[in-house]
Amino acid sequence: DGQPDIGDNAINRPLDRVRVDDTARELTTNQGVPVADNQNSLKAGLRGPTLMEDFILREKITHFDHERIPERVVHARGSAAHGYFESYDDLRAITRAAPFAAVGKRTPVFVRFSTVAGERGSADTVRDVRGFAVKFYTDDGNWDLVGNNMPVFFIQDAMKFPDLIHSVKPEPHNGMPQAASAHDTFWDFASLSPEIAHMLMWHTSDRAIPRSYRTMQGFGVHTFRLVNAKGEWVFCKFHWTPLAGTYSLVWDEAARLTGADPDFHRRDLWEAIDSGQFPEWELGLQIFTEEQAAQFPFDVLDPTKIVPEEMVAVRTVGKLVLDRNPDNFFAETEQVAFCAAHVVPGIDFTNDPLLQGRIHSYIDTQISRLGGANFHEIPINTPVAQIHNNQRDGIHRQQINRGRVSYEPNSLAGGCPFQAGARGFVSVPEPSQGNEVRGKPELFADHYSQARLFWISQSVTEQRHIIGAFRFELTRVQTPAIRRRTLALLANIDAGLAAAVADGLGMEVPPPLPPATDRPPYDYPPSSAL
Ligand code: HEM
Repeated sequence: DGQPDIGDNAINRPLDRVRVDDTARELTTNQGVPVADNQNSLKAGLRGPTLMEDFILREKITHFDHERIPERVVHARGSAAHGYFESYDDLRAITRAAPFAAVGKRTPVFVRFSTVAGERGSADTVRDVRGFAVKFYTDDGNWDLVGNNMPVFFIQDAMKFPDLIHSVKPEPHNGMPQAASAHDTFWDFASLSPEIAHMLMWHTSDRAIPRSYRTMQGFGVHTFRLVNAKGEWVFCKFHWTPLAGTYSLVWDEAARLTGADPDFHRRDLWEAIDSGQFPEWELGLQIFTEEQAAQFPFDVLDPTKIVPEEMVAVRTVGKLVLDRNPDNFFAETEQVAFCAAHVVPGIDFTNDPLLQGRIHSYIDTQISRLGGANFHEIPINTPVAQIHNNQRDGIHRQQINRGRVSYEPNSLAGGCPFQAGARGFVSVPEPSQGNEVRGKPELFADHYSQARLFWISQSVTEQRHIIGAFRFELTRVQTPAIRRRTLALLANIDAGLAAAVADGLGMEVPPPLPPATDRPPYDYPPSSAL
């Protein structure tokens, strides 16, 4: 039929409906009318004005005028690929999530990697967090594991996300600087937000300048839940580990590449897949119970904390393989809509206050980014599982629902979608605690122990790179008080780190910030934890 041969799997079949090969076909308008002349507009005489009547010109220009959509409010710059997830195990004793139902089971995926702060056309190799978003097209609907390449985050509560992003984006009065973090506003916010301490260590480390998307780890960041068919649940942290190894650039390489080849990571991913060198990651789970979590010296609902692997080992459960580039960047990579709220039976949220805010944010932003409430019908977003419900209408509706009934219960349709009951998604029943209150659990206030743990886990060379990154960033901060406050924050993490950074800036180390809590610092791993 003239269509490209792109193999046969569950995600290809629905996408085949909309794949088009224009090669050697007659040019038409969007109404399918053959176009006789694509070079000249219709004029009143060869030297006369163009006529309103030229519907072919007007359709072509009108469509062009509306070709751009808003870029993502964060993670605007990204690259993506198709592939599959293969389960090594049958995990049904732990989770009913369909991808883990059998040894060797394959689930189609679409994965998008991204930077966070830069605009859609910005360079790939800047110092920034990288997004690592995986859409699993499971038998029970789409599951999106919308993670990052660092296991912790800048803030503890969704309430602060717009402030964080406003501090990172170019300043509103002059649109500068475009660099991810090298400016006063970000360091102003950071130095006033001690909860950022741990993430700052990752962000100034080599992790923030990956060598390739193919050599980058990924993390779900939040604590999630895995739930089995009996409703029994455990806590879980998700880890992606690249089989090619984890590698970074050094700063000088990153800075040069940013100028010489702004598409460095995009090109690398594309060419690797194109040449048959399919990137692979293993999925690891850290699984622990509520009772274990209660013994940890940190709160598992706090997204600025990791669960150290000395406390809970990572169990490898499957492999992700990216084996096909998209056919069309806009249709797939740009229009894909990942969403932290997309979970399937067997996966559930926790009360992490950052995750709770994310559950709202993605659908909300996509309604404006992708134009209305029907963006789930854009082919790349459509589940392999079927959709049956009583939702109707809205701009650009594609599905043609038949019959006179779009409500439930009804006695007229002779069969309408029915509730799936226990086969469907059932939230973990969790007793709600106490009064409505704004605030944080006590353990959220220990901002420095894990930042220090990260620092002392680094090799001497890696520590030198971190010191160099802080010096680079802070020399570009023009307000002396912001530099001083940041040094004070570093002094809370490690006196040697603060002294080395201060030395590079020609400054004294100010006294550490007052501790956020009276709790004594603790050691890892605490002997009583498990
Ligand atoms: C993208 C909000 C925290 C990972 C986005 C987008 C929004 C957003 C609005 C753009 C979505 C789109 O236009 O399609 C938030 C909010 C957060 C938060 C409100 C905190 C309250 C996080 C965290 C992670 C993360 C903690 C990592 C675990 C991502 C990724 C993307 C993204 C990977 C890009 C998805 C893609 O490739 O299309 N976020 N985010 N975000 N976010 Fe978040």
